[in-house]
Parts: sequence; C-alpha cells; structure tokens
Amino acid sequence: MRKRIVAGNWKMNNNAQQTQELIQGLKTQQPYKEGVEVIIAPTFVNLQAAVQATADTSIGVAAQNMHQAVSGAYTGEISADMLKSIGIDTVILGHSERRSYFGETDQLLAEKVAKALDEGLRIIFCFGEELADREAGNHFSLVSQQLTEGLKGVTEAQLRQIVLAYEPVWAIGTGVTASPEQAQEMHEHIRKHFTEYYSEAAAQAIIILYGGSVKPANAAEIFGKPDVDGGLIGGASLKAEDFAAIINA
Ligand code: PGA
Repeated sequence: MRKRIVAGNWKMNNNAQQTQELIQGLKTQQPYKEGVEVIIAPTFVNLQAAVQATADTSIGVAAQNMHQAVSGAYTGEISADMLKSIGIDTVILGHSERRSYFGETDQLLAEKVAKALDEGLRIIFCFGEELADREAGNHFSLVSQQLTEGLKGVTEAQLRQIVLAYEPVWAIGTGVTASPEQAQEMHEHIRKHFTEYYSEAAAQAIIILYGGSVKPANAAEIFGKPDVDGGLIGGASLKAEDFAAIINA
C-alpha cells in the first residue's frame, strides 16, 4: 500500500503575515483524513516561520526549489544545506514554471536531483507534457524522456527519497484538469517506465501525485484512480477550506 500525499505549492504567494494566517486556517481544519501526508511549500523567506508555525501539527513544509551547488558565488540562490538547517526535509524540483520561465533543463534537474539525494532531502520531482506534445501524440515519450534525463544516475535504493508529480502543463493554473482517465493512463505509463528502468517492485512502490487544476470538486475522482497517490495543488492550496477538502477527498 502506497502512502497518500497532498502537497500545496504556494508558488510566489503569501507574505509573512498571510503565511501565518493560512497556516492558522489549516490548523483549524484539522484533523485531516487519516493516512494522508500533508505538505505545504511556502516561498523561501517564509519557510522558517512555516516550520515553526506547523511544529505542533503533522503538516510538513517543503521548499519550492534549490540550487545544485554546495555554496559559493551564486547570488540569489539557496542551497540544500541552508534548507536543512531550518528543518526542511523535502524540496520540489522540476516544476514546469521553473522549466519554462527559468530555463531549467532535464540536465540541470539531474544535477539538482543528485545534490538533493546526496544531502538526504526528499524530492517531489515534477514533469509533464505541454499541450502541443499531447496534440502531437508525443506525451508518453516526452514524459519518459523527462524521467530518464531528469533522474539520470538515480539508483533504485534512492527512489525511496523521490515522490513523482505528473503535471501536464496545459492543466496547470488553467482550470482545465486532465480527466481522471488521462491521469490514470499516464500514471500507468510512468509505472511501466519504472518497471523497465528499475523493477516491478520499484514501480509499484513509487508515489505518483497528479497536479494541474485539482479542486475540491474533482479531487475525489482523480485520487480514486488506482495509480494516483495524491496531488500537488497550486491555486486551491491557497485557501484553507479548499485545501482541506482536497486532502480529505
Ligand atoms: P494548479 O497548479 O493547481 O494551480 O493548477 C498546480 C501546480 O503548479 O503544482
């Protein structure tokens, strides 16, 4: 039985005060459905406050990104060690906004993945096709390529530190959700990929989240699919009631 995870990617939203307010709101929604790991990913400057504010809860806190170097002359960047030093144990890597607006390639992501694994961080690794890829019928091969390249060098033992998040770009922030069938079909494809590259056991063990316009109204149906193990939620994670409804779906 795979664990269920619902993670909220706050992106560049919520200042210090709003971060506290949303966390307070999430606390009042407790207890959440049993067996679901809940994670929030506030922006870097509010991570430490979020760690403190959630200390008396089961809500985990993740970072939205990380630099691949140990330290040094990388103005504006954040290292794995810095994250760990404030109590962060999970980092989102490869989000489509990082890929498209900040030029993060599969090759760069492989470096970030290797660094995060080295540092003992858990990774929520995001990937997914654009609309043009789907329309051209390339979505399965593109996703396979993103997994092969982005997770290059990752051993089967290290997969325990990795959670996957399939996020079709055309469904992110657009209000257009992949149908539960489309999500299931891709998640099944991803497990096949892992069977091929690692083993059947690894494919069955890896947690695969779906992301892209998940809302309280569609969460139960999507999460009900056999190969969908939870969600990575953007917009709907910014409202405590909506996020709680998704967690409990
Ligand atoms: P969305 O974003 O839920 O607002 O579509 C999902 C994500 O980008 O992780």
